[in-house]
Amino acid sequence: MKTLVAPSMLSADFGNLAKDIEMINRSEADWIHVDIMDGVFVPNISFGFPVLKHVKRWARKPLDVHLMIVNPEKFIPEVKTIGADIMNVHYEACTHLHRVVQQIREAGMKPAVTINPATPVCLLKDILPEVYMVLVMSVNPGFGGQKFIEHSVEKVRELREFIRLTNSDALIEVDGGVNLDTGRRLVDAGADVLVAGNAVFSASEPEAVIRGLKSL
Ligand code: DX5
Ligand code: ZN
Repeated sequence: MKTLVAPSMLSADFGNLAKDIEMINRSEADWIHVDIMDGVFVPNISFGFPVLKHVKRWARKPLDVHLMIVNPEKFIPEVKTIGADIMNVHYEACTHLHRVVQQIREAGMKPAVTINPATPVCLLKDILPEVYMVLVMSVNPGFGGQKFIEHSVEKVRELREFIRLTNSDALIEVDGGVNLDTGRRLVDAGADVLVAGNAVFSASEPEAVIRGLKSL
């Protein structure tokens, strides 16, 4: 399978979202990654559902929504209503993760579980068969443009082995500090999906970076 690429809107020009979404529509990107923050689970606030509605209006690619919020289950209906395809919730934010995953599926979306850099892969053992994807954070969530945490490569390798052993077909997505160099190493370690914010939107030719990431 070719590497899937999901540019992160967090690094887009918020004053001209439509233009950046059109660029993603034209590009070889597979999904559009959207980060929602609450200032509680992470020390930052990005944007909420009213903005997301406009992203959806322009987007011609599936929306991969990453919720960095406490009690994400409260917002399953809103996430569904704005037309998300994938709903990512943090392992660390859900006391009853199994139930939340089922609720996301019942709502008609693909459930994904995200782990912070300090959360070990082995904690996912019992939930792996239930999820469409695991999102491995390779920075501490909350901000774009941070430095890649090297240990994430090893974590992806470990997760790949775990997925094999449990006969799961979960995809592995990685988010934070991904560029052509870290992306290459992540794909070699077993990543299926690369999220990239800064690497795409700060480039003079964003579409070329997306093409480069896809070819890793
Ligand atoms: C960070 C977000 C990321 C962010 C990645 O908490 O989850 O999706 O946009 O940005 P870069 O690729 O710049 O590290
Ligand atoms: Zn994200």
